[in-house]
Amino acid sequence: MSTTFSYFRDRRPAEPPTFSISELDRDPHVLFRRMRLMTRFCGVTTVVILRSAPAMSSVSMAIRARGQMETERLRSHGVTGGYLYDILQHTMLYSNGTAHRQRRAPLSRAFAFRLITELRPAIRARAHELIDQVESRSEMDFVDDFAAPIPAHIISEILGLPEQDIPEFTRWVYSISRAISFSFLQSDIPDMEDAARNLTEYVRKLLCDRRATPRLDFLSSYVLGVDADEKLSPIEVISQIVTVIIGGSDTTRAAMAIQVFLLLQHREQWDAVCTGDMSLIAGAVSEAMRYEPSVGSTPRFTLADIEIFGIPRARRQCAFAINSVGHA
Ligand code: HEM
Repeated sequence: MSTTFSYFRDRRPAEPPTFSISELDRDPHVLFRRMRLMTRFCGVTTVVILRSAPAMSSVSMAIRARGQMETERLRSHGVTGGYLYDILQHTMLYSNGTAHRQRRAPLSRAFAFRLITELRPAIRARAHELIDQVESRSEMDFVDDFAAPIPAHIISEILGLPEQDIPEFTRWVYSISRAISFSFLQSDIPDMEDAARNLTEYVRKLLCDRRATPRLDFLSSYVLGVDADEKLSPIEVISQIVTVIIGGSDTTRAAMAIQVFLLLQHREQWDAVCTGDMSLIAGAVSEAMRYEPSVGSTPRFTLADIEIFGIPRARRQCAFAINSVGHA
């Protein structure tokens, strides 16, 4: 089966323009602004589709045969087993169809909106505590002192972790987080594997504890649900919890850092948010998340042979990502 993107038929470039990771790191806005003027897509192995109206609707309509990457990215780095592989092989994040639905269902039930709403006072208190800790100093490292500890503390609160476990737990979480980004290196793998082993065993123990002594909390209600359903294997049960932990950590850490960075680049907006009308804060947060999302692209694999932007690509040999940084 082959699909052609009719939207691009009249404007087929011979080769897509490419860019380097260092260009991307230097300034994604400058890079994508320039790219958007030249093309609707870039990249070679991974096709990066530049989000812009009206291209998006044509593109997403056209690539119907697409799926999550499952373990392809780890395999491309030669990883075919181990703790890290097990987590990614069994996570809802990278799965498709029935496996995705079955893995997601018990988590959605336990992860109720009420749980987060009730956590708000504790989250706020934690944020104030972190600021109090740095107030006497004349400077702070925003990421290390604030943006990184906040998600770790919230997750720890949800999972009911002892305070003394948080620093080590946080280190494992941020190490594994690289596995779900585009940018890990071969040399990162041993450290990620080590962190994956520690986190898997830690979560396994937490789940055993809740089975033995249920509490009125998220993990106990999750364990109750998966045990009643009997649809998930033991590693699937663990992997969904690990997914929530890593899915909720680096994303929010980066979102907070990006938010502050963007506001500081627009000093009048920083002043307005800091000293002016408090009702501006919600809008500033959502605009920063739209303008520069911490997850800039979501990768998928083609599940059928397709012709993409005039170039034939074989099934499962083409990864593509919709990039939404700074789109209008
Ligand atoms: C600024 C914050 C966040 C951003 C930008 C973000 C972004 C995303 C994106 C883009 C996906 C879809 C990935 C894909 O389809 O390939 C996703 C999935 C997911 N996220 Fe987040 N996320 C954020 C916060 C969180 C938090 C706080 C949690 C948990 C506490 C979380 C847990 C998850 C989970 C479990 C999935 C998988 C859902 C599924 O496969 O059905 N995320 N996130």
